[in-house]
Amino acid sequence: MKKIVVLISGSGSNLQSLIDSCHTGAIDARIVAVISNQGNAYGLVRAQQAGIPVCYLDAKQYTDRQAYDSALLKHIEQYQPDLVVLAGFMRILTPLFVQKFMGKLLNIHPSLLPKYPGLHTHRKALENGDKEHGTSVHFVTEELDGGPVILQAKVPIFAQDSEEDIIERVKAQEHTIYPMVVKWFVSGRLVMDEGKAVLDGNILPQQGYVDK
Ligand code: GRF
Repeated sequence: MKKIVVLISGSGSNLQSLIDSCHTGAIDARIVAVISNQGNAYGLVRAQQAGIPVCYLDAKQYTDRQAYDSALLKHIEQYQPDLVVLAGFMRILTPLFVQKFMGKLLNIHPSLLPKYPGLHTHRKALENGDKEHGTSVHFVTEELDGGPVILQAKVPIFAQDSEEDIIERVKAQEHTIYPMVVKWFVSGRLVMDEGKAVLDGNILPQQGYVDK
């Protein structure tokens, strides 16, 4: 069975959707470890409740980004994962780390990439008067939130919405699309080839999979 390592920093609701999908068999894989850079991340509790080994790596214990990432790398490598999933992991990874896992490193970013890379995407969408927002699952490359998109989901923005409303609406979609993409990956349907996301042998367009 394929092995997945998940990296988190926060509440871990996306992690939970992956745990649940592995339990039901919707994803034919096992989450072998969950690693957090925040000691109080609720996702660590979720992992423990599911019997998954957890690890907290505190950046303050390392001299620089390079040292942190090599410790992270070492910890991940002991599990020999087929896939590393970033699920709300709020750290920029070094090129060395990214290169090491290139093609088997996924991220979910709460915007319709290439729109709004970086932080506070929901607030930006709201302030700009956007009528829609969304989320993107993509392969990770060295460019921040710039790797090839695999799948996006859109949500509407209503006039009376708060930032929190949009965050929740986007997350509800994330909990559907992230497990779907992980399933594609572990079943061998999805690969990264020459910097492109390829599903069932077809190069995906810039916005990821679209139903034709
Ligand atoms: C998600 O909205 C994801 O897009 C972003 O961080 C959030 C993580 O939420 N990268 P959770 O910890 O999975 O609840």
